[in-house]
Amino acid sequence: MDADRLGSWFRQFADVECPDLPFYRTLCNGIATDPDLLDLLGTAAPGQWRPNLLLAALHDVVLQHPGDEFSRNYPTVGGSFIDGTDPLPSARGFIQSHRSQIEDLVATRSTQTNEVNRSALWFASVRAVAVEVGRPIAFIEVGASAGLNLYFDRYAYDFGDGIVRGDGASTVRLACELDGAIQLDDAVEIAYRVGLDLAPVDLADPVERRWLKACIWPEQHDRHARFEAAADHAVADPPTVVTDDAVDGLADLVEACPDDAHVVIANSWVMTYLARDRRAAFESVVDLLGADRDLTWISAEGEGVVDWVPRDPAVDSPHTVVGIRRYRGGNRTDERAATCHPHLRWLRPSTSNSPST
Ligand SMILES: C[S@@+](CC[C@H](N)C(=O)[O-])C[C@H]1O[C@@H](n2cnc3c(N)ncnc32)[C@H](O)[C@@H]1O
Repeated sequence: MDADRLGSWFRQFADVECPDLPFYRTLCNGIATDPDLLDLLGTAAPGQWRPNLLLAALHDVVLQHPGDEFSRNYPTVGGSFIDGTDPLPSARGFIQSHRSQIEDLVATRSTQTNEVNRSALWFASVRAVAVEVGRPIAFIEVGASAGLNLYFDRYAYDFGDGIVRGDGASTVRLACELDGAIQLDDAVEIAYRVGLDLAPVDLADPVERRWLKACIWPEQHDRHARFEAAADHAVADPPTVVTDDAVDGLADLVEACPDDAHVVIANSWVMTYLARDRRAAFESVVDLLGADRDLTWISAEGEGVVDWVPRDPAVDSPHTVVGIRRYRGGNRTDERAATCHPHLRWLRPSTSNSPST
């Protein structure tokens, strides 16, 4: 990967992902200009050359070395960044001291960020499916990471209208500004839940838990608070996440679902990690399963990542696009259901929701 291209990704990351995060914005713009720092991503596996991976590797080592000068920029270890200062000199010193550890993380890890606020999407969309089909739901999350979003029905939600929904007593407090109308008040019964992941994260292991924390940007206090609360909940009651590939493992999980439950297959920020031919293979597997029993596939990925999600020529969205594919009595329909912030800060249902067959 050439330095110019990598540099442009860091600049884009600064502009699009962290315009309101002074430390990460400044750090990314700085890394973009430094071939030696960009070179750190060279050990990443193909497809993993993401700014997020290097940032997570640095953050993980910071969490282990809170007293280092560079670490003092990170609120997650009690530090704070002074906007207008240059973190690169201390970053270079930090990297020199911990280079092999950082390179090892870049080479062996991937950004498995388990964003618990994405549960707001499952809370809203699975509810609508349950109302439509009038049956309990068997929920299968593909690429579930640590499985935090498998418990979407157990958390407390603020959708911006002053009403607390879900389990109001939960320590996991999620917030999503709803820009449009969705019926949120119907009951839903989750009869069965299971995750699937190439490398499930065991939150009882402190090293694994630290890596997931490191994947969350240090200036986002609310995300860290949600993660810690949801992780504590998952350690107390571990969700089931089966180790397998999305394409190879899905059929067995659907097979294991109770016959009287309606199967919902969900994925968020996963398909982007699959090569195009594997995404097509995944779609074929779901098609075969949908020919056999009614099911619903809800996909939340970047625009264009999942081919069947209808495009809206009026919206060139840099955000997440929610598609719903329904299999009912052997018929298949596709819907562009919503767009949302990647971490579900907001959710905007599509205005024209007529499904296309
Ligand atoms: C960015 S994380 C997203 C986790 C979760 N869906 C969320 O939204 O919080 C992507 C997850 O997909 C998993 N993954 C990547 N490729 C996969 C594959 N081929 N099969 C199953 N899981 C995969 C990774 O291990 C990782 O846990």
